[in-house]
Amino acid sequence: MTTLLFVSPTDNSEAWRGEIAKRLPDLEFRVWPDAGDPAAIDCALVWKPPPGVLAGLPNLRLILSLGAGVEPLLADPTLPDVPLVRMVADGLTEDMAAYAVLQVLRWQRKVDAYTEQQRAGVWKQLGHRPASEVRVGILGLGVLGEAAARALTPLGFQVVGWSRSAKEIRGVETLHGEDGLVALAARSDFLVCLLPLTDQTRGILNAKLFATLPQGAVVINAARGGHLVEADLLAALESGHLGGASLDVFAEEPLPSGHPFWTHPKVHVTPHVAGITHPSRCADHIADAIRRAETGQPLLHVVERGRGY
Ligand code: NAP
Ligand code: GLV
Repeated sequence: MTTLLFVSPTDNSEAWRGEIAKRLPDLEFRVWPDAGDPAAIDCALVWKPPPGVLAGLPNLRLILSLGAGVEPLLADPTLPDVPLVRMVADGLTEDMAAYAVLQVLRWQRKVDAYTEQQRAGVWKQLGHRPASEVRVGILGLGVLGEAAARALTPLGFQVVGWSRSAKEIRGVETLHGEDGLVALAARSDFLVCLLPLTDQTRGILNAKLFATLPQGAVVINAARGGHLVEADLLAALESGHLGGASLDVFAEEPLPSGHPFWTHPKVHVTPHVAGITHPSRCADHIADAIRRAETGQPLLHVVERGRGY
């Protein structure tokens, strides 16, 4: 029988307790800092645990991340060397695909401009480019990037995606490697970032990449704030080269008051809600991983620590 320690400063432990109990009624669910005997704990379910907490669990054999992105965990040098399983669940994937569609459509269909016109009582058709003429580039073709690509393609958008290794996705042009990034940017009216944050991808949304984007392109970052060089984005918006940005993630969260993004007319801010880990929609994944660990079956979605995701 598994004894699980839940460690998260922000997630609802009681909602998780209830959803996991429905699936694994024999599991003992403890909530940090009331860990009881640390030696009894064999599994941890975590989001941004304070560094060192997991190192204090001598019999830990599995870490389950409440997030898809695991860079905060990997930043802890004391993280125990046991399998780390990241969040991959339909609810989260559907949320993110919907966010990508929402943000592309809100700029393509001029939602902000029509909202302003409504407030002013103005009836004026502004026109828009048909989806078939709009090119969307997606950085990252993993679980979330592929889902975003698959959601945008049936709407008629020309979708091209970029990954580390070569990929084949029906209806989606795929590129990889350094040359692939330049080629993708050159034909991205929308650039959607769904990369993990690693040493290779930190700061990838920078002035050099923006200069390669077509005039008026929109940047959508739903991955991590560390991907974006904020000053470069502001400069590219000010110069008029970029047409706008939808940002869900930030170098510092919550986004500090007074930050220029809050009031920038070309920036749309959401508070890290693009893909939410709803307990009711994501507990199957957690229960499946625990059952696999209990019965010695191979674990799925294990993070490769060497590559950082
Ligand atoms: P994933 O399945 O691991 O996919 C990552 C993708 O990025 C893969 O296609 C991978 O290429 C590609 N990649 C990694 N390093 C690369 C590099 N150096 N160059 C080119 N491509 C590279 O991850 P996921 O589940 O889709 O999640 C992606 C990220 O979304 C998470 O890490 C997290 O930061 C973010 N996220 C944000 C929210 C939110 O609410 N805003 C919610 C969930 C997740 P290969 O396919 O070749 O390996
Ligand atoms: C959220 O940001 C996640 O990584 O799941």
